[in-house]
Amino acid sequence: MTVSGHFITFEGGEGSGKSTQARRLAERLRETGATVVVTREPGGTETAERIRDFLLSGRGEGFGAEGEAILFAAARADHVDRVIRPALERGEWVLSDRFFDSTRAYQGGDGVDEALLSALEHLAVGSVRPHLTLLLDLPVEAGLARAAKRRGEGDVPDRFERETVERHDRRRQAFLAIASREPERLIIVDASRGEDEVAAHVWRAVELRLLTSQEAR
Ligand code: TYD
Repeated sequence: MTVSGHFITFEGGEGSGKSTQARRLAERLRETGATVVVTREPGGTETAERIRDFLLSGRGEGFGAEGEAILFAAARADHVDRVIRPALERGEWVLSDRFFDSTRAYQGGDGVDEALLSALEHLAVGSVRPHLTLLLDLPVEAGLARAAKRRGEGDVPDRFERETVERHDRRRQAFLAIASREPERLIIVDASRGEDEVAAHVWRAVELRLLTSQEAR
């Protein structure tokens, strides 16, 4: 079946505001009459949410970075099959808070080799690739402070949030490297600005990359 919808992913480090921006973009698109599915990874289906709980609790750590990469890919395959591909086939918009670039940046940054990552990517997503990826970029310390504030007191950081600033910075650099390799797909958005400014940048990117080119088709 042909895929006529639009697939947008939001990527970036901890506390970069991806879920807020995905929600705001969805509202704006709905005002134009579009049908929009907002989803997230790991997760997005009942089974994938179970894998999410397992991974974020740290119980998957014993598998090592490769094992975690395989589990993220298993969750992704289910998410693509049951939610993303069907919505795109119906011509809808799909906005996902994280997708395969997170595996490249996180598990790649943790030492999983490129060949395994691309094989998993191929298995999990097939031809379902984002048309546009918004990389919400900001300094690691600022993102971690936001994430801590969002969590509130008494709530413990998850398995990935707990790691060192150095490790998070490696992931930030990995995301930026993907953006420079694939400028036709990724747009870097300065996420240290205020929420409204970031939302305006996101909207301009969507207009420019997806809405204008659609009218021209
Ligand atoms: P989440 O609470 O969604 O983090 P955030 O709010 O920062 O998006 O938790 C997802 C965590 O899982 C996050 O730390 C990144 C990590 N992750 C990976 O390591 N690999 C992946 O493929 C995905 C999708 C997420």
